[in-house]
Amino acid sequence: MGPGSAWWSNAVFYQVYPRSFADSNGDGVGDLDGVTARLDYLQQLGIDAIWLSPVTVSPMADHGYDVADPRDIDPLFGGMPAIDRLIAAAHERGIKITMDVVPNHTSSAHPWFAEALAAGPGTDARERYIFRDGRGPDGALPPNNWTSVFGGSAWQRVAEPDGSPGQYYLHLFDVAQPDLNWDNPEVFDDFQRSLRFWLDRGVDGFRIDVAHGMAKPPGLPDAADDVKVLSHSDDDPRFNHPSVHDIHRKIRKIVDEYPGAVTIGEVWVMDNLLWAEYLRPDELHLGFNFRLTKIGFDAAQIRDAIENSLAATAIYDAVPTWTLSNHDVDREVTRYGGGELGLRRARAMVMLMLALPGTVFIYNGEELGLPDVLDLPEEVLQDPTWERSGHTERGRDKCRVPIPWSGEAPPFGFSASADTWLPMPAEWAALTVEKQLADAESTLSFFRRALELRRERTEFEGTDVEWLSAPRDAVKFRGRAGLVCVLNAGKRAIALPDGELILASAPLVQGKLPPDSAAWLV
Ligand code: GLC
Repeated sequence: MGPGSAWWSNAVFYQVYPRSFADSNGDGVGDLDGVTARLDYLQQLGIDAIWLSPVTVSPMADHGYDVADPRDIDPLFGGMPAIDRLIAAAHERGIKITMDVVPNHTSSAHPWFAEALAAGPGTDARERYIFRDGRGPDGALPPNNWTSVFGGSAWQRVAEPDGSPGQYYLHLFDVAQPDLNWDNPEVFDDFQRSLRFWLDRGVDGFRIDVAHGMAKPPGLPDAADDVKVLSHSDDDPRFNHPSVHDIHRKIRKIVDEYPGAVTIGEVWVMDNLLWAEYLRPDELHLGFNFRLTKIGFDAAQIRDAIENSLAATAIYDAVPTWTLSNHDVDREVTRYGGGELGLRRARAMVMLMLALPGTVFIYNGEELGLPDVLDLPEEVLQDPTWERSGHTERGRDKCRVPIPWSGEAPPFGFSASADTWLPMPAEWAALTVEKQLADAESTLSFFRRALELRRERTEFEGTDVEWLSAPRDAVKFRGRAGLVCVLNAGKRAIALPDGELILASAPLVQGKLPPDSAAWLV
C-alpha cells in the first residue's frame, strides 16, 4: 500500500490533551472515560482519528511525558479498563486511536531509574541512562554545558549509595525525566514491547515524542552558549544526531507487522533535507510539521511555509501534514492578535490548512476558537518550565486550560468539581460547546461545515497545489482536484475569482473577500 492510499494520508487527527478534555469522575482532571463520553461530539465534528497525549502511569511532573510504566494506564485517567472502553467505542464509530509514546526518557519514578541509583557507577543498571562523572576538582562541574529545554542545567548530580556526591545524569527536559541510553539494546527491546503491547490491544498508531532526540552525539560535545528555553536550532548537539535514524528504522519494522498502524514523529527540525530524512520509506509514516505555528498572519510567510512544507515532504514522497497548534505552542487565536481579530484570522487559517493536501492535526479547543489564558495566577502554574526557568518563562499551561462544554460558569460541564486542575476563565461562558452548537455562525459550526466539505466534496481529492496570481497580501492556490482557496491577509477587500463559493470564514462585503478571511471556491 503506497502512502497515498493509507487511511492516515488525508486524515483529520484531533489531539486530546486528556487532562483538559472531559472529567468523568469529578476530580478536576480530565480522563479517558471523559473522552469516551464525548465521542459523539467528536464524530459529529467529523474527525478520523484521536491522538491522545500520554495516559500511561506517571507522577505527572510533565503531565504524563514522564512515564513510570509504559504498559499501564495511570489510575488518574481510569486505568486499563478505561482505555479498552475508549478503543472499543471509538472503533465502533470508525474513529482511530493513536497514543503518545515517549522513547527519549522515562520518569525518575521508573523502576529502572531506582535500580540505576541504587546500583552505583559502572553498573549495567546505570547503562540504561546517561550517567557521567562531573568535570573539575571533585567532579563539581556538570559533564558539559547542555541546558534543559525547560531551563537550567541538563545534568543532575546524584548521591551514590554510600552517600557521597556522585555522578550526573542527563535530562534534556525536567529533572524527573532522565534521558535513556539508546546505545543500550535493552532500551529498544523494552520499547518494542510497549509498541506491541498497545498495538495488540487495538491502538492504531503512535505519536512519537521527541522523535529527533533519542540518539546523542559521541563525547557529548558542548552546545553553543545562546540556547533558549523551550526551543532549539538545527545545529544544537542535543538533538537530531544522525544515528537516530537507525532507531526509526527498527521502530518501523515492528509497526509494519501491524498493517494500517501509523507513526507520527515530533521532529523539531527546520531544515527541509534533515527533516525529510525522518520520512524515508523505512522510517516514520508522518512528520509533525510545525511551520504554520512559527509564522504570523502574513501572506509571504504563509506561502513560504507551504512551499517549504511541500518541498520537504516531496523529497521522499511522503504525505504532508499541517497544524496550527498543539499543547506546546501558543494557541493561534492569541498568536494572530487575540480577540475578534485573532479569531477571524484563525478561522481563515483553518480553511487554508484544510484546503492543503495531506493530513491535518487539530488541537482540542481549537474548534471552539479558544485563546490562550494569559492571566493564570502564578500559584496555579504547573508546567515545569515555570520553576526551572527561575520564574522567567510561564510555560505552556496557558494553552492547556480545560475545555468549556456547557453552562454559564466554570467548570462549564468539564467536571463536577469547581476545582479544575487549571482554573477556567469566566468569559468562556460565551465559548461553550453548548452555545456554539446552537449558533450556526459559531466557530464550532464553521469547523463542522468545513470538515464536512473536506470529507464529502470530490474537489478535496488529489494532492496538487498550484499557485494562482494574487495581490501581494493574499494567498491563492488551486489545490487537489480543483478546489480554489483564497486568503486575504491584507487591509482591503479583494475580488474573488470566478467559481462557486462553497465556504467563507467571514461574510463577504459587497461580493468581495474582506481582510483577515478566507474562501473556498470550486
Ligand atoms: C515533547 C512534548 C512536550 C514534552 C516534551 C518532553 O516536546 O510535546 O509536551 O514536555 O516532549 O517529553
